[in-house]
Amino acid sequence: MDKIKVLGISGSLRADSYNTALLKSSVELSKEYMDIEIYDISRIPLYNHDHEKIKIPESVIEFKSAIESCDSLLFALPEYNSSVTGVLKNAIDWASRAESPLNGKPCAIMGASGGLSGTAGAQLHFRNIASSVNLICMNAPKLQLRRSKSLFNENNVLTDQSTVEHLIKFLKAFEEWTLKFMNKKK
Ligand SMILES: Cc1cc2nc3c(=O)[nH]c(=O)nc-3n(C[C@H](O)[C@H](O)[C@H](O)COP(=O)(O)O)c2cc1C
Repeated sequence: MDKIKVLGISGSLRADSYNTALLKSSVELSKEYMDIEIYDISRIPLYNHDHEKIKIPESVIEFKSAIESCDSLLFALPEYNSSVTGVLKNAIDWASRAESPLNGKPCAIMGASGGLSGTAGAQLHFRNIASSVNLICMNAPKLQLRRSKSLFNENNVLTDQSTVEHLIKFLKAFEEWTLKFMNKKK
C-alpha cells in the first residue's frame, strides 16, 4: 500500500522554530508509514481581496495544489498572544477561497510554546478556524509542548524521551485518523 501523504505546516517562519523542529521530528518518527512534506508558507503574500480579483499569486496556487494532493494536514502551531500566528491564519485565508482544498480534509494539530501554555490557546482558536473552513481536526490525543527549550537539544532535535514517546503515539493516532477518511486499506 502507498504511504499516507501528509502536508506539514508550521505556523512559525523562524529559522530555529520549535514548531518546525517538531514537524522535522515527526517526519523522522513516522517515515515508515507516512510521508510528511514540510511546506514553507513564507512565500504566501498578505491576503488582499483586490489582488485576488486581478490574479491569484503563483505561491497560493502551488499551496492549494499541495493541499489538494495530500491525504491529510499536520499543523504545528506556535502561540502568539493566546492565538494562532498571523502568517498561518493568512495562509488558511488564501487557501479557503474558491474551490477550497481544505473542505473536508482531515488534519491534526500540535504545538510547542516557549512558556507554560503549551499552545492551548492557539489550539482552541485553531479549532474555531478549522470548523469555519471544514477542516476535520483530530480531537485526541493532544500534543501541547511547554517550555520547549528544555525538550530540544542545541541542534533543535527533540530529545526529551517522554515527549518523543508521546509524539510517536500521537502520529500513530493521526495515521488512523487519516485512514478513516481514505479508501486506502492498510
Ligand atoms: C508576538 C509573540 C507573542 C507570543 N505570545 C505567546 C503566548 O500567548 N503564549 C505563549 O505560550 N507564548 C507566546 N509567545 C512565545 C512563543 O511561544 C515562542 O516564541 C515560541 O518559541 C514560538 O514558536 P516557534 O519557536 O515555533 O517560533 C509569543 C511570542 C511572540 C513573538
